[in-house]
Amino acid sequence: MRRTHNCGELRLADIGKKVCMKGWVRFSRDHGGVEFIDLADAYGITQLVFDPEDITNNADKDDISKALRSFSRESAVSVDGIVRRRLPDTEDPKNRTGKVEVLITKAEVLNRSKAPPFELGDQKESVLPGEETRLKYRYLDLRRTEMSEALRFRHRFIKAAREYLDKTGFIEVETPILTKSTPEGARDFIVPSRVHPGTFYALPQSPQLFKQMLMVGGVDKYYQVARCFRDEDSRADRQPEFTQLDMEMSFVDSKDIQDMIEGLVAYVWKAIYNKTLKTPFKRISFDDAMNKYGSDKPDLRYGLPMIHITDIVKDAPYDIFQKVLSKNGIIAGFNVKGKMAGDKIGRNEVDRLIHFVKSTGLGGMTWMRAADGTLDSNIVKYFTPEVLAKLMKKMDVEDGDLLLLLAGPKKAVLETGGQLRKKLAEDLELTKPGTYQFAWLVDCPMFEIDPASGKKDPFHHPFVLPTGPLSDNVGGASFDLIMNGAELGSGSQRIHDPEIQRKIFGMLGYRDETIERDFGFFLEALGYGAPPHGGIALGIDRLISILLGKETIRDVIAFPKNKKAQSLLDGSPGKVDDERLEELQILSIAIDDIDIGDIE
Ligand code: AMO
Repeated sequence: MRRTHNCGELRLADIGKKVCMKGWVRFSRDHGGVEFIDLADAYGITQLVFDPEDITNNADKDDISKALRSFSRESAVSVDGIVRRRLPDTEDPKNRTGKVEVLITKAEVLNRSKAPPFELGDQKESVLPGEETRLKYRYLDLRRTEMSEALRFRHRFIKAAREYLDKTGFIEVETPILTKSTPEGARDFIVPSRVHPGTFYALPQSPQLFKQMLMVGGVDKYYQVARCFRDEDSRADRQPEFTQLDMEMSFVDSKDIQDMIEGLVAYVWKAIYNKTLKTPFKRISFDDAMNKYGSDKPDLRYGLPMIHITDIVKDAPYDIFQKVLSKNGIIAGFNVKGKMAGDKIGRNEVDRLIHFVKSTGLGGMTWMRAADGTLDSNIVKYFTPEVLAKLMKKMDVEDGDLLLLLAGPKKAVLETGGQLRKKLAEDLELTKPGTYQFAWLVDCPMFEIDPASGKKDPFHHPFVLPTGPLSDNVGGASFDLIMNGAELGSGSQRIHDPEIQRKIFGMLGYRDETIERDFGFFLEALGYGAPPHGGIALGIDRLISILLGKETIRDVIAFPKNKKAQSLLDGSPGKVDDERLEELQILSIAIDDIDIGDIE
């Protein structure tokens, strides 16, 4: 028989129907000779019953019994049967098919399963095996409802995004995977060429240069669900291979690109949640984000800004502050409002926060509590009543508030402040799951200069259009889409004048020969009337994982790598035969085989 219904489909209206269902045996139990089986597939779970009393023909009864004996867990099976109502006290209200069951009239094993290495039922996370086991048997892990739902959600998201882009005139164009290196700040994965021994392709860190050359080629509005490859250390929100929704447009400015993304996200929101998303998104400058929230991707679902008090406390004869000030440091802190914290931050919690601050590398933290209209702490004695009054005004202090003050070099204070703010939000449960706050990070610098080494790196990448005359401090026309403390995407207007592009490479310290070798083709392309253009890429894995409340992007990728960039499923990266390496003219030496004497 052909399958008539899937395992998530049967309802009361189907009672009495003859059905044929196929799926996997998730669970079976025997209740005094009556057998109950949970049949599962991608759509749900349906209860099957075999009650020998209900089958009149003895031969059929024996056939079914025999087949059911081979119904081991996760075997693929087929059953024919009749839909009937479950007895009222055996209904399962949590299951969409929970009011009915299928009385088996015929059963067949399609493919028997070995004992699975873990339970695939809907258990709590704690019962799941370690992630390494899930990754090794990923095909089984994907059978679990949670994983199946994640893949389906991801599909719906991308489908809606494609619909929007199609409606607004974008075309999807594929760009090469075997390419020359593009600098996105990570290491390249390189692929040796057999035809040209000793030379290598690089896997694209993003389609950046190709999408820009598509604009030179008159494509006008490009997009691609693009696979990107970066040889960087994996983290919860990073994979060596990941997916971007990559876009580029000609004759546009930053606002056009941001408007397009807001339209896209709002369209997708409507399609998947049937909700209207509020646009335009908030905009926050890079400087404000750093100074107020200590992060270039602040979580804006809650306030808790950092308040700068260097000017107010500069004259107080408090040693720690004076030492910091003598080295051009700053003093800033948080007012943890009593209304917000209640009694959640007692003396012990403050000690834990001090410990936390020290673990971030800052020397420590000063704190004060507000009571009876004034501030109380062991350092208040260093502050005159005027300074105290100013401090209370600036930090908007009321009785019951707790001030947490950080002093140190500017970069360290801002970074620690950002982490402390995040920790306070977690401790005080300031965010509600299922709430999303999108924003644009704007007014970014063109370069990031390491204070210690003076090394200059692009803030975003070297193709961003500078917003003024070239100098180390010039701004860049780049912007990030941020949400709930994560960077979801980056975009910018691009340089379309080859001479400016050459100068930027020069400012980044690239030598002329390197520029010619690595980017000559690209500078050449810009020289043929490249249109003013710009674009953006959204990190799909990150976005989907946040929307689904997952701890890691691995949970929204069908076959991810583990934290050590390995695929436990197929065992990659793996060795290749020596003959293959010879063809590529690559010498294979196992480190253990090297005799240092040989080398010398
Ligand atoms: P960027 O490097 O900022 O910009 O990447 C854009 C977005 O891609 C996601 N992302 C990642 N996701 C998972 N694993 C990774 N290793 C990883 N790296 C980045 C992030 C990030 O915001 N070509 C430019 C875009 C442009 O200018 O148009 C680019 O790639 O969500």
